[in-house]
Amino acid sequence: MKYGQFDDDKREYVILRPDTPIPWLNYLGTRDYIGLISNTAGGYSFYRDARLRRLIRYRYNDLPSGINGRYLYVRDEADGKYWSPTWQPTQTKLDNYRCRHGLGYTIIASSFREIEVEATYFIPPGEAIEVWSIRIVNHRTKVAELSLVGAIEFCLWDALDDATNFQRNLNIGEVEVDQCAIFHKTGYRERRDHFTFFACSEPTVGFDTQRDAFLGPYRGWDRPIGLERGKLADSHVAGCSPIGAHHVRLTLDPGEEERAVFLLGYHENRKTKFRDAEQQALYTEDALLKIAHYRTADVIDRALERLHVNWRETLSRLQVTTPVPDADRMLNTWTPYQCAVCFNVSRSASGFESGIGRGIGFRDANQDLLGYMHLSSDRARQRILDLASTQLESGGAYHQYQPLTRKGNDAIGGGFNDDPLWLILSTSAYLKETGAWSILDERVPYDGAEGSETSLYEHLTRAVEYTLTRLGPHGLPLIGRADWNDCLNLNSHTTDPDESFQTAVLRSDGTAESVFIAGLFCLVVPELVEIAKRRGDERAIRRFSEADSTMRCSIEAHGWDGRWYLRAYDAFGRKVGSHKNKEGQIYIEPQGICAMAGLGLADGRALTALDEVSKRLASEHGLLLLQPAYTRYDPALGEITSYPPGYKENGSIFCHTNPWIVISECRLGRGDRAWEVAMRINPAVREEMSKVHRCEPYVYAQTIVGRDGPDHGRARNSWLTGTASWMYVALTQWVLGIRPSYGGIEIDPCIPLRWDAYSVVRAFRGAVYNIRVENPDHVSRGVREVRVDGRAIVGSILPTFSDGATHNVQVTLRGEQ
Ligand code: GLC
Ligand code: GLC
Repeated sequence: MKYGQFDDDKREYVILRPDTPIPWLNYLGTRDYIGLISNTAGGYSFYRDARLRRLIRYRYNDLPSGINGRYLYVRDEADGKYWSPTWQPTQTKLDNYRCRHGLGYTIIASSFREIEVEATYFIPPGEAIEVWSIRIVNHRTKVAELSLVGAIEFCLWDALDDATNFQRNLNIGEVEVDQCAIFHKTGYRERRDHFTFFACSEPTVGFDTQRDAFLGPYRGWDRPIGLERGKLADSHVAGCSPIGAHHVRLTLDPGEEERAVFLLGYHENRKTKFRDAEQQALYTEDALLKIAHYRTADVIDRALERLHVNWRETLSRLQVTTPVPDADRMLNTWTPYQCAVCFNVSRSASGFESGIGRGIGFRDANQDLLGYMHLSSDRARQRILDLASTQLESGGAYHQYQPLTRKGNDAIGGGFNDDPLWLILSTSAYLKETGAWSILDERVPYDGAEGSETSLYEHLTRAVEYTLTRLGPHGLPLIGRADWNDCLNLNSHTTDPDESFQTAVLRSDGTAESVFIAGLFCLVVPELVEIAKRRGDERAIRRFSEADSTMRCSIEAHGWDGRWYLRAYDAFGRKVGSHKNKEGQIYIEPQGICAMAGLGLADGRALTALDEVSKRLASEHGLLLLQPAYTRYDPALGEITSYPPGYKENGSIFCHTNPWIVISECRLGRGDRAWEVAMRINPAVREEMSKVHRCEPYVYAQTIVGRDGPDHGRARNSWLTGTASWMYVALTQWVLGIRPSYGGIEIDPCIPLRWDAYSVVRAFRGAVYNIRVENPDHVSRGVREVRVDGRAIVGSILPTFSDGATHNVQVTLRGEQ
C-alpha cells in the first residue's frame, strides 16, 4: 500500500494523505539555516548547529507524534470553526490534502469548507530566513470572513538545556514585539548577539508571545483558546515559554485569492547590539529590512525560482537513463539530494537523531563526501580540511566535532580505530573528481591547535601510521573501542546497566583485532601509494606498499575462516564471525570491504565469500548484517548483543553495508547480482510496501528490521545514513561504470545481462560527457570500444577536456572471450 507517488518531472514526492506511518520528512536549506519539515509541517529549524542554535522547540518521543513545528490555523468567522490546513495539530478531516516534498521546499495544500489553502515552505538561497508563503482561495459562492493564525514555539537556543533545565528556563524567556514582528531575544541581554524573529507580511489584529495565554491552561496546540475565542491575547511573555503567534483577518469574495507570508528568521547583530542600551532594546533595523524585503509575493516567487535553478544545475552534473525508472528517479534526484542532506547535517538532526547527541561524525562525514564530491567540490574540499583539522597528532581522530566550534569531542566515545583511515578515502575521491592536487599541500592543524600545522598529505600518512603502530597478535589492526560497527565493543566488557557502551572504560590491555579495519587498510593504502607516486615520495611508496602487502598476508593467514572472512578476534584471542561460533557466524562487513580492496579476487576466496553472503544473509528485504543473530548479551562483544535479534547491528539489514556488496559483486563481474542487491533496498521499489517499510519511500534508511525481528521489513532511521553515498557510488561508478580516476573518467560497467543500453550525462573537470553505452551481446562486463566525439580511444579512460564543451562518448560492451 502506498501513501503517495513520485512526480519525476517536478522532482517531487507527492503524499496523498496526512497520516503516513510516521511523519515523512524533508529538509529546507543547505548551509547555515536548516529546517526539518514533515508532511504536516512538523519539525524544527536551527542555525548551523542543531543543538546550540535551535530555533523551534521540538519534542521527540511526544504523542501524538509529529505535532510540534510550524502551526497554521484557519478560522471561519461565520461560526468559529477552526482547522489546520496542514492537518496537524487539529487533525481536522480535510476534504483533500496534498504534500509535495521537493528539493529544498515543501508545499502542503488542502481544502476544507471550500476554502483552499496552500502553504509553501522554503529558505531563499543564501538567507537565514524560512518563508511560509500562504495562498488562500475562497471557492464558495459567498463572501468568506476568515482568520489566519501562524505560530511557533521558540526554543531557548541550546536544545538540550531547553528540554531539561526548567528551574532556569521557565524564568529567562524574553521577546520584543514590533507591529508585524516578534523578536525572540532570550539570552540577548547577556552574551548573545543573535535573536530569532517571527514576522507576518500582513497587518495583524492580534498576537501572542506567551504560550499559556495562547493555548489556555491544560490545552494543547490542537485547541488553542485563542482560536476558540477568535481573539488572541496580545500577551507579552514574562519568563516562561515564549512563542510567536500572529493573527490576520481576511475577507475573501467568491473566487478571490489572497496571499500572506510568515517569516521565521535568525539574525546576528555584529555591530550595533542595542537600539537603546538604557532600555536594553534590541537593534532590529537590519532584521526589519530583511523582513520588509521578503514580504512581497514577487520577491518570494523569484527566490523560489532561484532555489529551483540551483538544484537543477547541481543535479545536472550527473543524470542517467537506464531501463529501470525506480533506479533513475533515485539516481537523478533523491539519492544525490539525500547525499547533500547527509553532507549538511551528518548524523545530527533527523526524525531519529535529536540534534543533541551527535555532531559531524569523522567516519560518517568522510563517507558522506563520496556521494557529494561532484555536487560541490568546493564545499567538499572545505569539509575535508575541517575534518583533518580535528585529527590528532598521533594520526588518530576524534569521533565527531560540533559544527559551530569545529572542535572535536569524545562525547559519544573515542578510540574507534577505523576512524582516521576514512580521511584517505575521501581525499582520494576528491582528487579523482577534481584533479586539484593542491589540496594535499594545504596547511592543516592537529586538534585545531595553532602552530601544529602540516600538509594535508602528512595528515594522511599519519592516519596510516596510526594503524601501523596499533597492530595486534595476528598482525591485524587493533579495534580500539570499535570499528565501523560501533557496537562491536570488544574491549569494554561492561556489565553495568547504567553505563553507555559508547563511553564505557576500555581495558587498557585490549588486544582485540579487526579484520574489517585490515580490509579498509587495504582499500585505502593503495590510494595513498598512488598519491605518493604522483608526489615522487619514494620513501612513502616503499613503506606503504610494503605495509599493504604485509596486511594482505595477515588477512590471508589469519582473517579467513574457510568460506568467508572472519570479523575479528576478541580481547581473549577468540574468533568472532566464524563458523565455529554458535551465533554471529558470518558478518557482512569484512566480506564487502575485503572484496572491495581486491582481496580474494585472484584465488576465488571473494567468490566463495560472496556466495555465502547470498546464501546466509539474503532476505526478501535486503542483506542482513550477520547471522545467526545474537540471542543473549555477551559482555565480550558489547552493544551488538544488546539489541534484540534482527535490530540494528544485531542482524538487521544495516543498509550501509549493502552497497559494499554491490561493489564487490561488480568486482567479480556479476552484474545481475549486483543489481538485485541494490534494488532490494531501493526505497522507490519498496514504495508499494509502505505499510511495512513505514519510512519515506524516497530516501534510504539506516536499518530495515531483519528476518529475526517480528516486524521484518520495517525501516528505521531514515535520511541520515551512509547508505545514500555508498549506493550512489556503487550504482553510478561500479554498475553504470562511470568512475572518476586520477587520470580521468574510467568506463567500466557491470550491468544486468538483459539491458540493451543506457546513457549518462556527466560533468567532470570542466567539460560534459554525453555517454551512451550499448550492450548488443547482452553481457555484464567488458568494454569492446569507446569512441569520443566519433574517434575510438585506446583504453577506457576518457580524455580530460576542461573546455566547457559537451563531448559525445559511445561505448560498446562485449563478453569476455
Ligand atoms: C551508525 C553510525 C556509523 C556506524 C554505524 C554502524 O550509522 O553513524 O558511524 O558506522 O552506525 O555501527
Ligand atoms: C549506537 C548505534 C550505532 C550508532 C552509535 C552512535 O551504538 O547502534 O548505530 O552508530 O550508537 O552513538
